[in-house]
Amino acid sequence: MYRDVKLWLQRAIECRNPLILAQAFNYDLNRLAMLQDCVALPSRNSKKLLMEIEEDTDFIRDVQRKLSRYTQYSPRAVDFMLFGHSGSVFFNEVTLYVIVRSFKPKIMVETGGTPGKSTAFILRAMERNQCGHLYTIDLPPGKVNNTQLNTIESYHEFMPAGALSGWAVPEYLHERHTQLIGTSREHLPSLLEQLRDIDMFLHDSDHSYENMTWEFETAYSALGREGLLLSDDILANDAFSDFCTSKGLAFRNVYNLGAARSNTC
Ligand SMILES: C[S@@+](CC[C@H](N)C(=O)[O-])C[C@H]1O[C@@H](n2cnc3c(N)ncnc32)[C@H](O)[C@@H]1O
Repeated sequence: MYRDVKLWLQRAIECRNPLILAQAFNYDLNRLAMLQDCVALPSRNSKKLLMEIEEDTDFIRDVQRKLSRYTQYSPRAVDFMLFGHSGSVFFNEVTLYVIVRSFKPKIMVETGGTPGKSTAFILRAMERNQCGHLYTIDLPPGKVNNTQLNTIESYHEFMPAGALSGWAVPEYLHERHTQLIGTSREHLPSLLEQLRDIDMFLHDSDHSYENMTWEFETAYSALGREGLLLSDDILANDAFSDFCTSKGLAFRNVYNLGAARSNTC
């Protein structure tokens, strides 16, 4: 309780807009509801895990330093706060961290891995879980062009010369990580054939309706009965909701992050 008050006081001081603050507060509440529905995590436990990662100072500083190295990003107290249309630096990543910490996937696949924020937070959760391996399919930075990036976050547009895919991921987290460089069409089918079953899939690559639908269909067949399907940027189009409806899956979302788990969300 004391921590909540301190946190929101800090955010209020930096943000200074009561409307934005109220919106962000609402997104925080939505997130607790999503975590309860999708990974059966009571609010109290969600809050503990949120605090665990937001106060993971060394890790957060490493990711922030990596982001700052190639971009104009500089850390702010509101980095963990979501307010509509303005994006957020770490809101979805922190949510992913909590999901992975509580769901404890053994095998997870994500598409779209640059700059590497989602990868970093997922790997940090797996490291803490002492369990899990993440496969990331991503284009090499040189191949990214702005039309593929449905986002206003400037660091996605700065594709640093010479930087590698997932350049924001701290080196010490690579132990539980395998990168596949190329399109999801090139790599996803063969990867899933090799892995057979996966526990969690996250889409965050090319957000066209066709590609999202194709990735969901392809990954769904490899997700176990209790597997979790996650997608970033679900507000880009109706692909996620259409897919869930077509499979009879209930789903939850907080702004642009969607989650569906065989009828439990
Ligand atoms: C929104 S960014 C991913 C952000 C990343 N998840 C993070 O949290 O830092 C989208 C990324 O998808 C990758 N991408 C675009 N089209 C792709 C495709 N067809 N297959 C795989 N990756 C793709 C690009 O490398 C681009 O950086």
